[in-house]
Amino acid sequence: MKSFASLWLGVLCLVAAATRADNIPDLFLHGGVSLNGEWKMIVDPYESGFYDYRWSQRDKDAKPSRAETFYLDVKPADAGERVEYDFDQSPSLQVPGDWNTQKRELFYYEGTIWCRRTFESPELAKGQHAFLRFGAVNYRADVYLNGQRVGTHIGGFTPFTFDVTKLLAKGTNSLVVRVDNKRAKDAVPTLNTDWWNYGGITRDVTLVATPAEYIADHRIWLESETTHAIAATVQIAGGKAGETVQVAIPELGADLSAQTDDAGKAAFHFTPAQLSLWSPDSPKLYEIRITHGEDTVTERIGFRTICTEGRSILLNGKPVFLRGICIHGEFPLNGGGRVTSPEQARQLLTWAKELNCNFVRLAHYPHCEAMTRLADEMGIFVWSEVPVYWTIDWTNEATFQNAQSQLSDNIQRDANRASIIIWSLANETPVSPARTRFLTRLAQRARALDSTRLLSAAMEKHAKDGAPEVNVVEDPLADVVDVVAFNQYVGWYDGLPGKCGRVRWEIPYNKPLFISEFGGDAKQGLHGDKSQRWTEEFQADLYRQTLPMVDKIQGLAGFSPWILVDFRSPKRVLPGIQDGFNRKGLISSEGNKKAAFYVLQEYYRQRAAAQ
Ligand code: GCU
Repeated sequence: MKSFASLWLGVLCLVAAATRADNIPDLFLHGGVSLNGEWKMIVDPYESGFYDYRWSQRDKDAKPSRAETFYLDVKPADAGERVEYDFDQSPSLQVPGDWNTQKRELFYYEGTIWCRRTFESPELAKGQHAFLRFGAVNYRADVYLNGQRVGTHIGGFTPFTFDVTKLLAKGTNSLVVRVDNKRAKDAVPTLNTDWWNYGGITRDVTLVATPAEYIADHRIWLESETTHAIAATVQIAGGKAGETVQVAIPELGADLSAQTDDAGKAAFHFTPAQLSLWSPDSPKLYEIRITHGEDTVTERIGFRTICTEGRSILLNGKPVFLRGICIHGEFPLNGGGRVTSPEQARQLLTWAKELNCNFVRLAHYPHCEAMTRLADEMGIFVWSEVPVYWTIDWTNEATFQNAQSQLSDNIQRDANRASIIIWSLANETPVSPARTRFLTRLAQRARALDSTRLLSAAMEKHAKDGAPEVNVVEDPLADVVDVVAFNQYVGWYDGLPGKCGRVRWEIPYNKPLFISEFGGDAKQGLHGDKSQRWTEEFQADLYRQTLPMVDKIQGLAGFSPWILVDFRSPKRVLPGIQDGFNRKGLISSEGNKKAAFYVLQEYYRQRAAAQ
């Protein structure tokens, strides 16, 4: 008979085992059972389900109160028991999806909402693992299964996975997620952003089953565009040394085998006789199949190299000009809100292609898996960014760890996407020693995780002392990154469009230069003289005056104007014009193109023809 102590220890190990989320890889490729659909929700602005009346956290209590602890998801045991919640009688919420655009009363809501769904437990074979994978939850998620705490994730735009093997119940399971989208000074992003703070389980939720030993991670990349040498590594979770892993690339006649090392990792090298390189003009993808024991994952991968030489960006050894546009992870039609489907992602990227783009800056945070996979298929370069945006809490180590986790999760999820050529560390961060130390550490982490891509960040320009029409880009971060990117708003925040013709640029770096933002607002359908701000004519004139200005910048490797589509922002309140939207889109929030869309489209058409 086990002593009480050992029994209790057993329970603690059980709970600890379920919360080991930090080192579980992203299992997107393992598929699984979708837990999307109708969930029930309890709006909890006073955190009643998380803290008791003494503000003590309920899930730290050995016996939390059945009456108010929402994650227990109980019903009264008898007519006399007091239980002050009932998910079954509560309103519904669609997952994936933000709550702001699903419920008018939640449009501005920032706080906690408890989301619950039940599901039938799948039969697990002996030794199998069961995981819960969340594509993204903004901003903090506390996850509970069958009344047991599973774990916590912080960060609104990257996937996370928990091992719930030991918490699954036979029959019906209750999955409860406390979603808290409150902004905070020490968060990433911080309190102040020019985008809507959409809260919710905004991407897919999946119950994933794997064998005891499973394929946890893999990297496959082209080492040389001349020799066509391909390298691959495969990480087996629970793997031991000397176990066989196979990588097959049927179209290349590759059926490779390798043995794992002591860390469960297998390495491969292969040089195919023929290889079609990935590029925007020819986005060739190959099916890859990885097998270990009973586990198999497949995906489609493009092979290309990307590097810099002086002020050029080289794709497969040849200079390329990035004809870009910025995009927020927000879909404008049908009431708007976070992108939740591949169809919405495809519409945004189709508009970018219509604009004659070969590049998109996915601002200001990692977008959904569909965006980067579609970019691979459609042949569009991607700038992928973490939300280290504006004035982050630079001296706070927990803030740095948070930013680093989001960067690591972003790279781990998308390291095999040919379309992604730039990892961006930040946007418009004020220069200071603490900020540059923070971002230098972040850059070191990015390079340690992925040495095959370029690093950048959207920096800022300033006017030269005593020469207001000489713009200078000088930032210690420029010495750290590979591509010197900067936002500039001559003609909108800085003078009027006519100023573009008078401005000169001083940018003292022998690295590729990239303008990561420029543009101005226009209310679609508002017409007038081009001198009248907010009209389509003003915005189109701003583009017509900016393009010749940027053409004069020696070594400009491309640019991505701000922005493809109007997007929601609580900061934009001008009645009749903004009404809660940032109107710098080339397409309106109703999906209508503005005059400036055609100005840029024609410029890019000519650029592409001349390439
Ligand atoms: C900034 C910022 C964007 C913002 C834009 C604007 O550069 O990076 O997030 O929306 O300018 O002011 O419209």
